[in-house]
Amino acid sequence: MSQILTIADLKDLARRRVPRMFFDYADSGAWTESTYRANEEDFAKIKFRQRVLVDMSNRSLESTMIGEKVAMPVALAPTGLTGMQHADGEMLAAQAAEEFGVPFTLSTMSICSIEDVASVTKKPFWFQLYVLRDKDFVLNLIDRAKAAKCSALVLTLDLQILGQRHKDVRNGLSAPPKMTLANIADIAIRPRWWMGMAGTKRRTFRNIVGHAKGVGDVASLSSWTTEQFDPHLSWKDVAWIKERWGGKLILKGILDKEDALMAAKTGADAIIVSNHGGRQLDGASSSIMALEEIADAVGDTIEVHMDGGIRSGQDVLKALCLGAKGTYIGRPFLYGLGALGKEGVTKALEIIRKEMDITLALCGKRLVTDMGKDQLRR
Ligand SMILES: Cc1cc2nc3c(=O)[nH]c(=O)nc-3n(C[C@H](O)[C@H](O)[C@H](O)COP(=O)(O)O)c2cc1C
Repeated sequence: MSQILTIADLKDLARRRVPRMFFDYADSGAWTESTYRANEEDFAKIKFRQRVLVDMSNRSLESTMIGEKVAMPVALAPTGLTGMQHADGEMLAAQAAEEFGVPFTLSTMSICSIEDVASVTKKPFWFQLYVLRDKDFVLNLIDRAKAAKCSALVLTLDLQILGQRHKDVRNGLSAPPKMTLANIADIAIRPRWWMGMAGTKRRTFRNIVGHAKGVGDVASLSSWTTEQFDPHLSWKDVAWIKERWGGKLILKGILDKEDALMAAKTGADAIIVSNHGGRQLDGASSSIMALEEIADAVGDTIEVHMDGGIRSGQDVLKALCLGAKGTYIGRPFLYGLGALGKEGVTKALEIIRKEMDITLALCGKRLVTDMGKDQLRR
């Protein structure tokens, strides 16, 4: 554990410990993966201003996201099939986030259900909603999130149709995995993973199976998504979802200034500048390159968050400088989870916290909330 110093170290360990089908599911982008790569690479193009001889004592990373106090402005992004990276993955990640003091967002496509996560956490978590054709089921999901006391609904707007990730097609991604010879051989050499899985009953999409009408098996994600996700979703739908939910609403998947301005008009509390981790429109801009224009366009009419490509505390600070009030990490916590379970998620957060703290000091700042465009060299 003392040799794990970076998110890349966690990724290497996860690659060894998680069955290939699920490691690849996390480590993939749509088609040529150009946007997935750009999300990470474009952060490196942004440079800080180094400042010296300023008081760097009493530093603080504390901030708020949609009015909630956070230990640092880094939430865990909603990710599907998280309980396949590690047994009971969503429950463990939610606990790690709660103990650390950052928000956890549960995906509609999670393995552990809303109720599972609520049963092992004390503070409210956030729930991410996909809008499906079966509106009764969507209403029921919203009501379940309310009953579980979730404190924000994150409505994802950029996946009404699934982008193709070639690795998932080649690997025949399903949850649970089909017991083919190749899968058995791959799983057999990962004892930590399968022993964990053998010890849990949570091995398929528990928000859905048993709740949505006529759905007994959603093992194959892509065919189920094609059948069930509603391609008619429009701005009008945001209104009834907002009304039914009645609480804090975050719109996820905005990458264009015009859409951001539309989003601000809905009365939602925040937008997430995001391209779904490069998993949807290959060839779209990286999130970090889209951020500044969007943040400038909406001003303070709506809170701006961003995700995509954050692999270090420095990346978080760059996003804050360019106008984000909060950020999210997807793969970094998934790699932590696959590598070391709950401890690995905590480790991912600790790595990012340490990098943020030192970078903040070397930029001559004491409060993370003071980071702005002035701290970038341009
Ligand atoms: C394995 C995986 C599954 C994901 N599943 C969902 C999901 O169910 N709902 C959603 O809104 N976004 C989903 N996303 C996108 C993330 O919420 C987030 O936008 C993205 O991971 C951020 O990029 P990063 O992984 O580079 O941090 C997923 C991302 C990954 C990597």
